[in-house]
Amino acid sequence: MTRKIFSFFFGFLIFDFFTMAQESAAGKGLLGTRKYNDYEKPEACQSCHTDIYFQWDQSMMSKSYTHHWDEIEYFDLAVAHAEKRPDLKPVVDGCNGCHAPLAYLAGDVTPPRPEEGSRANEGVSCDLCHTITGYIGDIPNNFSYITEPGRTKYGAKPGLESPHHDTRKLDLFTKTEFCANCHNEQNPYGVWVKSTQMEWKEGPYSKEDVPCFRCHMPKAWGRSAKMAKEDMVAQHLFHGAHDPGKVGGAIEVRMHPQAREVFYDEPVTVTVQLFNAKAGHKIPTGSVEDRMLWLHVTATDAEGNSYHLQVDPKGFEGEEYTIAADALAYQDMGIPKGIDNFAGVQRDGIAVGDRIFRMPYFDPEGRMTIQQWNTESLGVDYRIGPRETKIETYTWTMPDDIPLGKVTFHAQLNYRRLVKSVADFLNVPEDESEIVFVNKAETWIEVID
Ligand code: HEC
Ligand code: HEC
Ligand code: HEC
Ligand code: HEC
Ligand code: HEC
Repeated sequence: MTRKIFSFFFGFLIFDFFTMAQESAAGKGLLGTRKYNDYEKPEACQSCHTDIYFQWDQSMMSKSYTHHWDEIEYFDLAVAHAEKRPDLKPVVDGCNGCHAPLAYLAGDVTPPRPEEGSRANEGVSCDLCHTITGYIGDIPNNFSYITEPGRTKYGAKPGLESPHHDTRKLDLFTKTEFCANCHNEQNPYGVWVKSTQMEWKEGPYSKEDVPCFRCHMPKAWGRSAKMAKEDMVAQHLFHGAHDPGKVGGAIEVRMHPQAREVFYDEPVTVTVQLFNAKAGHKIPTGSVEDRMLWLHVTATDAEGNSYHLQVDPKGFEGEEYTIAADALAYQDMGIPKGIDNFAGVQRDGIAVGDRIFRMPYFDPEGRMTIQQWNTESLGVDYRIGPRETKIETYTWTMPDDIPLGKVTFHAQLNYRRLVKSVADFLNVPEDESEIVFVNKAETWIEVID
């Protein structure tokens, strides 16, 4: 019915878009099919599963709706955008299929703001995950999970007994498809704006059967419930972008010069290797449109003067988006913010010439965007794949008056969850754009006469 009304008012173009948007949302059939009360609150599990409860409570899973940046992007950009373009409403309601699943299932969209304390705030809750029994489609994506709330809690172990509920083992709880329901996402333009599980599948870890759980829910000896026998228990850490310890060291960095002794009037070249040793997918993955991962290289001469080195371009298509520049982008934030001809904000906001490991997202006008729902195409994929090693070189012409003696080179790999200029523009609290240290390397040369 509403579809008919839309097509009547807005004509064929919008109707086509609307149909497209509907198709891409695999889990759209879930909207309004349940009640909040069909699902138990996490607090109902806390008394017996105390450790697991507090692990989950500290993770982003419990904050997927209430976290400040989620609230800002959802209400100030996505919901505001859909108010201007009603055809986007189902897409924006769909944010909740992953971020506030109980609200989506209860048909409570747009959900109340976090401060109102509704059950949307539970985020990805215990009972939501443990009553997933399957998924629709071949590659799970866009909240394609099947949910059967009730007395039976599903998990990875057979034959467990609990006074509060029945238990049942499902193979799905040992497969990455379980996580893929929310960690692969296709937007209304048919673009894969999130593809963590597909990246995993293409990479070495799927061949070796090292699923998501192994790194994000590692097992340790203990009790999963107060009255349980001791066993290896899946720790509900779900640590990722918001854990500096998880991000730190994920990529190893080494650096060497092309010659140890260099004449003062010759150019110097240093080579840097970056090895993704720790992640089962590309880095960055997930919210790629928000993330920054960049290499900053400096040289310090014998008298302590320091110089910034710019990366040598390799010449591939789209490379300009992977080398920091003084350029504006993200103009499409002007639409939801109601700013006509918005000039945008700094695209990178870091030292010009630094290498950025990213995949740019482009809006329908070909400008870089952080609005994944408004992404019509993706640019060059210059992220670091699982166990991939990328090499960067830095050729430097030393200043004429360089003192003879030792020059030390420092390379530092930095990570940021959200482009700083965007965070500042939208008043996102500073922790979301703080610099997270990933790794560093050093090498040296001797300048001679
Ligand atoms: C009264 C205590 C109690 C409460 C409350 C409780 N559980 Fe359990 N649960 C247990 C016990 C005991 C086990 C078995 C643990 C074992 O033997 O390893 C268990 C096992 C499980 C398992 C493992 C199933 C499997 O086959 O791998 C899941 C999942 C689970 N509970 C989820 C929940 C959820 C979700 C809630 C809250 C809605 C909850 N439990 C509330 C006691 C409880
Ligand atoms: C071999 C270990 C390993 C495996 C397997 C693995 N991850 Fe990760 N994951 C990491 C590490 C290390 C990081 C931190 C570095 C980073 O941000 O990519 C991470 C980060 C993440 C992030 C945050 C990314 C960001 O930058 O915002 C998400 C989301 C994630 N993983 C989900 C998954 C899912 C889903 C799977 C399974 C399909 C999976 N991971 C498999 C190690 C792993
Ligand atoms: C994002 C989905 C997700 C959420 C949220 C979640 N779990 Fe789990 N849980 C899993 C998966 C997957 C496993 C099995 C992991 C494995 O065996 O490697 C599991 C395992 C368990 C187990 C069995 C642990 C063991 O190894 O014996 C219990 C008990 C459990 N969960 C309870 C809870 C409770 C209580 C909460 C909320 C405080 C919760 N879970 C939140 C996905 C989830
Ligand atoms: C019902 C949807 C859903 C399922 C199922 C799900 N996730 Fe997530 N996950 C999310 C959402 C939403 C976020 C983003 C939270 C936020 O707002 O930052 C997230 C975030 C994460 C992060 C990043 C945390 C950080 O520090 O930024 C990791 C790691 C992760 N999930 C791992 C997993 C793994 C492993 C599984 C499978 C066991 C899984 N997820 C299953 C919805 C889900
Ligand atoms: C298919 C499931 C899914 C849908 C639909 C979805 N998200 Fe997400 N979202 C995730 C997952 C998973 C992550 C975590 C990825 C990571 O850690 O890199 C995430 C991360 C985010 C983040 C970054 C959180 C942080 O703290 O860094 C924001 C903001 C966000 N989503 C907003 C939205 C909005 C707004 C929509 C709707 C237009 C939406 N999401 C639709 C699954 C989804």
